[in-house]
Amino acid sequence: MKPWSKLEVRKSVLVHAAKNQDGKINVEEEKYYLLLKKYARILAPFYDVVFGSLSLGTESRLRDRVVDFANAGNGSRILDVATGTGRQAFAFAKRDHDVVGIDLSEDMLKVARKKNKYENVRFEIADATNLPFEDNSYDVSCVSFALHDMIPTIREKALKEIARVTKQNGTIMIVDYALPKNRVSRFLVYHIIRLYEPYYPEFIESNLEALLRKSGIETKEEISILHGAGRIIKGTPKAAVLKIREEGSFAPQRKFRDLACIPAFNRRFLTPFYDFMMKYAARESTFKPRLVEQARIGADQRVLDLGCGTATLTILIKKTNPQAEVVGLDADPEILEIAKGKAVEAGVDVRLDRGMADQLPYPDGSFDHVFSSMVFHHLALEDKIRTLKEIIRVLKPGGEMHIADLGKPHNSFMRLPTLIIRRLEEAEDNVRGLLPELFYDAGFEQVEETTKHMTLVGTVILYEMQKPLP
Ligand SMILES: C[S@@+](CC[C@H](N)C(=O)[O-])C[C@H]1O[C@@H](n2cnc3c(N)ncnc32)[C@H](O)[C@@H]1O
Repeated sequence: MKPWSKLEVRKSVLVHAAKNQDGKINVEEEKYYLLLKKYARILAPFYDVVFGSLSLGTESRLRDRVVDFANAGNGSRILDVATGTGRQAFAFAKRDHDVVGIDLSEDMLKVARKKNKYENVRFEIADATNLPFEDNSYDVSCVSFALHDMIPTIREKALKEIARVTKQNGTIMIVDYALPKNRVSRFLVYHIIRLYEPYYPEFIESNLEALLRKSGIETKEEISILHGAGRIIKGTPKAAVLKIREEGSFAPQRKFRDLACIPAFNRRFLTPFYDFMMKYAARESTFKPRLVEQARIGADQRVLDLGCGTATLTILIKKTNPQAEVVGLDADPEILEIAKGKAVEAGVDVRLDRGMADQLPYPDGSFDHVFSSMVFHHLALEDKIRTLKEIIRVLKPGGEMHIADLGKPHNSFMRLPTLIIRRLEEAEDNVRGLLPELFYDAGFEQVEETTKHMTLVGTVILYEMQKPLP
């Protein structure tokens, strides 16, 4: 962006004081608001014609597709954020929903109001980053072809507001540009759209999925539109995940205090067979070396293996990184005895501690890496959340977490073992694919699924992520 003259900044601040939470003026946002106002005024009278021609005459079908995909119940309360001239709001109103369209531009809304022939839609001037509605007020919130028009900070604030005002079991519809898969179309679409959309290159190259997660929106389904140049994402506010759990569609929860006595595989008599099962059923030799390898542990770094069980991974970490200080922690004293015997046999110097995952007996910022293999599927949802908070606490800023655990089945072979395992353990959250959401919620960033492994107990997914730097 071009640097701004002092006069322009002052003018903008007078026009619209965009303040951060600390009360300071945000110059980038000021500039955005000023430009938005200016361009909306010029564009408003022509917007429908321009959009109609750019969508090659498919616009009204596209708007109806959004409504169909949202699949809202009769008479739902719908919010169309950054409604512009109200085309998407009208498509919802046609189906007898109760619709509110908001936009920051009075010029855009003037056009919308002029065209409005429905009694069940009204338009209000409002900023998407500060919606004038109570929490949980709308069944469906929609934002169509507007996110790409926003600078990243505004986009994130708007999405958080959308998540806030949408009912917990409601629906969030995101309609915007995407890149076609075909290389030639991709090239053409990118270079054409960037000619007339100033913020498009940044938007299209950004990770929208990660931003949605960060903003509290869980993606459910997605369809491609405009021959791949656009997409409709259907999501839900993330807290809904917890709600589903409360409503009982998840497995019954176990109290975290009981964790100290949860033996491996949930059955005490199975403890002696733990290694056998991990080797043949969970195929640990395929994923544990991969997990250690992805961490790239430096000499003299401190590593924690949380829920170390019989310490197979703890020993492997130490053998691969003899210079590192490696600690294993587990709640079960019986399994720790087996672990100690194995460490002596392997001739490695590792510390093995007994402790609870939600009260780690270590100071803040004391580890460079925390590993955990096949532990999270033992923990009830709130225990997973508490454990992740503890892990973040004991990691140094920039420290990494490496997890191997059950995840969403990645092919049809993996569905069958998943059906069984989700009943035996607390694996429901895992197989629903919720772990990455929980990692983000706990404050981790750069969460990545590195590999997926087929095992007799279902898909095992390896994740890596980082504690943010200050
Ligand atoms: C390209 S138009 C899209 C309009 C409409 N949603 C559609 O699908 O045709 C983008 C709209 O976003 C609005 N907008 C951008 N930033 C906004 C904000 N922070 N709050 C409210 N509206 C905003 C603009 O005024 C403009 O009307």
